[in-house]
Amino acid sequence: ARVEKAGYKHFMAKEIFEQPVVLADAIRHYLSDDGQTIARPGDEIDFAGIDRIAMVACGTAYIACLTAKYWFERLAGLPVDVDVASEFRYREPPIPDRTLALFVSQSGETADTLAALRFCKGRAAQTVAVVNVAESSIARESDLALPILAGVEIGVASTKAFTCQLTVLAILALKAAHARGRIDDAALAGHLEGLNGLPGLVNVALALETPIKALAQRLAEAEDALFLGRGAMFPLALEGALKLKEISYIHAEGYASGELKHGPIALVDKRMPVIVMAPHDRLFDKTVSNMQEVLARGGKVLLITDAAGAEEAGEEVWQRLVLPDAPELVEPILYAIPAQLLAYHTAVAKGTDVDQPRNLAKSVTVE
Ligand code: G6P
Repeated sequence: ARVEKAGYKHFMAKEIFEQPVVLADAIRHYLSDDGQTIARPGDEIDFAGIDRIAMVACGTAYIACLTAKYWFERLAGLPVDVDVASEFRYREPPIPDRTLALFVSQSGETADTLAALRFCKGRAAQTVAVVNVAESSIARESDLALPILAGVEIGVASTKAFTCQLTVLAILALKAAHARGRIDDAALAGHLEGLNGLPGLVNVALALETPIKALAQRLAEAEDALFLGRGAMFPLALEGALKLKEISYIHAEGYASGELKHGPIALVDKRMPVIVMAPHDRLFDKTVSNMQEVLARGGKVLLITDAAGAEEAGEEVWQRLVLPDAPELVEPILYAIPAQLLAYHTAVAKGTDVDQPRNLAKSVTVE
């Protein structure tokens, strides 16, 4: 069936606003009917029998892997290495026996990711693919393929596939934590309840479109932008920067907040917006001091946070976007929404070709 824009100006906008529905589809697919346990995968993955995970992907899917590393390590106590596929395939790293090799790809056809998968076959204990296109090469050639159920994604800049990848990876991390005895049934059910609330939270975040659109008019005047985040929000800062540069052509970089003083602070001036993605978590105080370093140099801070964070941030912050409170596990997924909307509306304000940005392809099937 032909996919239409359904009244939206761009596929990207349609795909951003589809997220509550597709996320709910993905959650329903992987959870039991009562939402208390994980129905899929069952025992196809032996999480208790592995010592580490090697994750490999490109682009936005790579950023999903970087986020999931925080979850697998913290929840399941599993060390994770994340690589971009083009580096992994030629580095040919050692793969210890009890390694689970995990590949993430929207299209399932990215040449470098497929080559990395072929390298791991026969070396890793198991190869698992997290894909959107179920009949793709990567899905076929892996030992186990897990669908993300995002539906067809047409916009070159990935949006709903990213949040659905994260959702499936969060479920896998919980599965691993439970299988390895790191969380009990009650804790698992608690996390899953939080996950079940995600589509509703995403709806609330989407309602911020009007203020984000206003902000985007200002962002469109910038030549450079810096995104900062800590912990699992660090990869989200990378994703915010990637989305913005891909479709608005504004030079953007994502950094771990703690790295600010090791380089990017040299660029801070009143023309470069610094977008800080920081829910009020146990590291928030550290983020506040990073923001003060920016403000002290005349920088403009756009803070994306929750109610408690907005209150504690201080008066000098240029702009703030306030998201609903969310369980820690789902925060990175929720914070993708304002990053997507900000990139989208900035690109629209600049009049770029949002769905077909110059020089980029939806799927990179050749090297
Ligand atoms: C291209 C696309 C990105 C995507 C990346 C990986 O660069 O423009 O949106 O994240 O490829 O693609 P995959 O299909 O493997 O997720």
